[in-house]
Amino acid sequence: MNAPASSASFSPADALRAGLAGLLDGLPPKQAAQAVDRLIANYRGRTPTDAPVLRDRSDVAAYAAYRMPATFEAVRSALDAFADAAPDGWEPGSHVDVGGGTGAATWAVSEVWRRERPVTVLDWAEPALALGRELAAANPLLGQARWQRSRIGAALDIESTDLVTVSYVLGELTEADRASVVEAAARAAQTVVVIEPGTPDGYTRIIEARDRLIAAGLRIAAPCPHSAACPIEPGKDWCHFSARVSRSSLHRQVKGGSLAYEDEKFSYVAATRLPARPAESRVVRRPQIRKGQVLLDLCLTEGALTRTTVTKRQGPLYKASRDADWGDGWPPA
Ligand SMILES: C[S@@+](CC[C@H](N)C(=O)[O-])C[C@H]1O[C@@H](n2cnc3c(N)ncnc32)[C@H](O)[C@@H]1O
Repeated sequence: MNAPASSASFSPADALRAGLAGLLDGLPPKQAAQAVDRLIANYRGRTPTDAPVLRDRSDVAAYAAYRMPATFEAVRSALDAFADAAPDGWEPGSHVDVGGGTGAATWAVSEVWRRERPVTVLDWAEPALALGRELAAANPLLGQARWQRSRIGAALDIESTDLVTVSYVLGELTEADRASVVEAAARAAQTVVVIEPGTPDGYTRIIEARDRLIAAGLRIAAPCPHSAACPIEPGKDWCHFSARVSRSSLHRQVKGGSLAYEDEKFSYVAATRLPARPAESRVVRRPQIRKGQVLLDLCLTEGALTRTTVTKRQGPLYKASRDADWGDGWPPA
């Protein structure tokens, strides 16, 4: 059956949720929880690794069920911010996802720009690619996706493309491989989006990547409103954002509690050769709502941080500030 070129009614986010729910069907809950525990221990202990952490089907099923909803939401937020800054009507004609694993970023791209396009997923873990391919069969917008074994290193060559994503990968690489992947992405793509966990270390890797992308001639489109040095003093703070993720039954089982959602913290950078219009400033902390005023921590076009207070007297701006969220551009368009 030919996949439709675009689809208004199909929701990648819903289809991914359904696909992931089905993944653990038949696997005894205890076994699923054990696979997740093993995965978390592996990720805690031995990165960067010289062989894939995702070795077999139960590793990748645990990864997909446990982490993919969160990495999907983080990538989706980063791409939404980039889409706001991109020229009107722009969408990627092609996409390469490096270290793509089970394909969370390919789903996020198809969620933000709902059209079928050539997609290449590169990863060194064959079981991850196999599961990614299997899950993607439920997404007609990923009908052209190719799942290719490839090792990130000095020899990495990425085909020329509109968009490269590198999502939750840098933390698994040596310093030399982090440089190789970002430089290869910058050579290959018009736009590069890199996403990492929203930790001090994740942020440090994002800043390193950001410097390399600027050195390669790209400009920052998001989250920074500028391509100057990051105004955050190293070691004092870190730039990160938050994406809400619905918790699956596996999450509830592994983490306990009954909350229906959790917040995934992530850091990111989107850099491009397109004539992008970065936000005038960006809300870099959760806004504080007080009686008659809202306090916004902003990163500014001049490459500086400031706190601004929006009061009731500012009418429509005050109304907008009450709706402003951590990570939004400010003022609203
Ligand atoms: C934490 S997972 C992230 C997967 C996916 N990008 C996501 O956002 O959900 C890291 C991925 O990087 C891949 N990876 C790590 N080191 C690699 C290397 N040297 N070459 C190729 N892939 C690598 C792993 O196999 C894994 O699929």
